[in-house]
Amino acid sequence: MTLRRAARCAALPALLISAACLAPDGAAIAEAGVARDSFSRPLPGLADDELIRFSLGRAQFRTIRLSGARTDGSGGLGPVFNRTSCSGCHVRNGRGRPPEDADRPLTTMVIRLGPGSRYGRQLNDKAIPGVEAEGRPAFQPNPEIHVELDGVNWPLRSARVAVRKPALGPLAPHVELSPRVAPQIAGTGLLERIPEARLRELADPDDRNGDGISGRRGGNGAGRFGWRAEVPSVEAQVADALHEDMGVTSTLRPSVNCAAGHARCLVRAGGGIEIDDEAFRALVTYVRNLAPPAPRVAPAADAGSEVFDAIGCTACHIEEWELEDSRVRVIYPYTDLLLHDLGPALADRRVDGSPGNREWRTAPLWGVGRIFAVNGHRRLLHDGRAQGFVEAILWHGGEAAAARDRFRALRPADRAALLAFLASL
Ligand code: HEC
Ligand code: HEC
Repeated sequence: MTLRRAARCAALPALLISAACLAPDGAAIAEAGVARDSFSRPLPGLADDELIRFSLGRAQFRTIRLSGARTDGSGGLGPVFNRTSCSGCHVRNGRGRPPEDADRPLTTMVIRLGPGSRYGRQLNDKAIPGVEAEGRPAFQPNPEIHVELDGVNWPLRSARVAVRKPALGPLAPHVELSPRVAPQIAGTGLLERIPEARLRELADPDDRNGDGISGRRGGNGAGRFGWRAEVPSVEAQVADALHEDMGVTSTLRPSVNCAAGHARCLVRAGGGIEIDDEAFRALVTYVRNLAPPAPRVAPAADAGSEVFDAIGCTACHIEEWELEDSRVRVIYPYTDLLLHDLGPALADRRVDGSPGNREWRTAPLWGVGRIFAVNGHRRLLHDGRAQGFVEAILWHGGEAAAARDRFRALRPADRAALLAFLASL
């Protein structure tokens, strides 16, 4: 594995090598050395015109949108929405988190809604003046789960979400509430270049090979993006984000983002296309060309990467992919982009409290060691419930239960090495 890490550094574009692979050992693991713009760099080798479009896209990403038509193209917000800019949730292209206090409004996360909801696929908790927001999410703490690790009890905390003040009446009891934080988005465009055929080969929905790990494609067999791999392409993800998160219509998603029967929303919706195709393409170029952070090198991390492999984490968090139609030939995202059953504790909950969907996309681990430096917190997992790596791993269940138990059984030195490895990503 040490050799593989060395080879990985050699395979990186020159620009990234200097930042990562030549970093001094030991100190490289310290978060102090990590730049706040770790998720904001363009892929090396972009042509001038691509760099220009990348900068235009960055400006779009940061534009705070206003309601109504605006001559400078910054209009189209709402009538209902979650946030006024992409960068409001993906702060420095990084990770969102749940609110500090259960009753505070959400700032960098959303509540997605399972099938059959009259509010559509996402709860829009904000609205332009004169229109009611769809509802106000509030969190209630779940009973703590205790897991023993080296004789110490780790309390695992999570929360359940409820929707207060629903504008069109309460949500039906069977609707699934799926709280999700904004993920870091550096490297998203490279995940799009993983060959479709390889993903199809890898999927093993019925666990034919009997290894206890199945793995299913999300999004009707073509999904790659989002915590549940519901979205097939960066283009579709950007159109969805504009539509669902900000209420901005585009050529790809021209319909208004109002729930049926939400009269004031329907009256105030402008109609027509609210972001022009050029601005849309610039946004797509920006997201596609954000470089993933290069792993930092340190001896402890090398040993940890062997432990990661040995205890079966790589059954889902696949280290290395060769790409198709891409200047970057090989990437190290630690994901298979497939959905896995991670057990009841991580499942969505229905309005009536019963457990819902428990499948999640293997989270790409590249960048997980930089979230603190970029965003100032250590929250992990789809709803941000975990505080740091140990908790995130202890929450793994279902298909990942065996790997989690091997993690618990590790000698402390090996576990420390594994954690240093995650911090180096
Ligand atoms: C209200 C907060 C919010 C806003 C605003 C927002 N996002 Fe997101 N973004 C999220 C969340 C939450 C997810 C995960 C969605 C899911 O799991 O379905 C996400 C997912 C993504 C992904 C997929 C990353 C991956 O690895 O799967 C991309 C790319 C993305 N957003 C880009 C954008 C762009 C571009 C904009 C602006 C047009 C934007 N987002 C606006 C919260 C937000
Ligand atoms: C069966 C597949 C599977 C196995 C095996 C597995 N994971 Fe995961 N891992 C996932 C999925 C799926 C998620 C996302 C879960 C969620 O967000 O609720 C995840 C999330 C994570 C996260 C949080 C990432 C983030 O961005 O928030 C970490 C850290 C992690 N895994 C580490 C490990 C380690 C270490 C091991 C080995 C002990 C391991 N995983 C084994 C599927 C797996």
